[in-house]
Amino acid sequence: MLVLGIETTCDETAAAVVERQADGQARILSNVVRSQIDEHARFGGVVPEIAARAHVDLLDGIVDSAMKEAGLGYGQLSAVAAAAGPGLIGGVIVGLTTAKAIAMVHDTPLIAVNHLEAHALTPRLTCALAFPYCLFLASGGHTQIVAVVGVGEYVRLGTTVDDAMGEAFDKVAKMLSLPYPGGPQVERAAAGGDPTRFAFPRPMLGRPDANFSLSGLKTAVRNEASRLEPLEPQDISDLCASFQAAVLESTADRLTVGLRLFQERFGTPRALVAAGGVAANHAIRSALQDVAAKAQTTLIIPPPALCTDNGAMIAWAGAERLALGLTDTLEAPPRARWLLDANAKAPAGHTNSRAGY
Ligand code: KG4
Ligand code: ZN
Repeated sequence: MLVLGIETTCDETAAAVVERQADGQARILSNVVRSQIDEHARFGGVVPEIAARAHVDLLDGIVDSAMKEAGLGYGQLSAVAAAAGPGLIGGVIVGLTTAKAIAMVHDTPLIAVNHLEAHALTPRLTCALAFPYCLFLASGGHTQIVAVVGVGEYVRLGTTVDDAMGEAFDKVAKMLSLPYPGGPQVERAAAGGDPTRFAFPRPMLGRPDANFSLSGLKTAVRNEASRLEPLEPQDISDLCASFQAAVLESTADRLTVGLRLFQERFGTPRALVAAGGVAANHAIRSALQDVAAKAQTTLIIPPPALCTDNGAMIAWAGAERLALGLTDTLEAPPRARWLLDANAKAPAGHTNSRAGY
């Protein structure tokens, strides 16, 4: 089974070809990603209109490169998959329309993939992980704990009630005048800082649900930063270190509860899997390692290039669906919002409509 995957939901334009063998083994034949960081950096965040325009300009060339690198003609494809949401609608339309055109011209099945499902299924691409497992997805747009029970069977165990975790890192970076994207900058600054200098709140600590909250913590950092103005480099490092320490403690607590909820409903998970840009953070990785060890499960973090947005994960999710006979018609709609767990409700007191409940 040979599937072309297209990803355009945020600020990465990406295409890849993945082969799925009958026994479920995977091979990535090509994986081309073009980040738009340079286009958005001077605005301090992703500008949807600029992203959509850049996807239009870049996508044809990137799909072409992915096919050439894989050494395939379109006629050899078993299916073409595109991320049909959730995400910035302009970009989603560009990717899905391109996939529909390829499907129509080459008479190939179309698969409209949920971007979150693609993140959720990535460990089956990288290490053939069996179901069920527990996913911690933390990116610029999402912060969720999900029970991955089977292809198409996802149960959300926890989510953020306000900001996404990557978004909080980006906002803290911005208020401290660190460049975009802020996550890696905050991590770097934190390495030289004192994590005990500021006693920031540990959001949601000890709560029986597995939800997250980050906006109060972000506000506490802002208040402290304004009080200290003008900021010395050491202040910035200490603010970053203290912020990151609060995120770590809160994350460890929320995931411990999430794994307990998982155990009660689905038995022992085969693994705790982390994905999304925040999983690149070394301090968070080692906190996750401790959580997994205490819960007597293994931690799996796919390699960075497959943790952040890419075409291979879309192609793989398409292949998993195709293997079950799940294809879509050319009517498949682009979706700005698309719940992974259709039964999940927005958590009580939520304040951020972009947080991808
Ligand atoms: O998954 P991703 O590449 O894109 C989406 O948001 O879909 O995640 C990007 C997010 C950004 O908010 C970025 O600041 C954050 O992940 N991030 C990090 C680190 N590297 C990236 N956050 C904390 N520490 C890092 N080292
Ligand atoms: Zn993503």
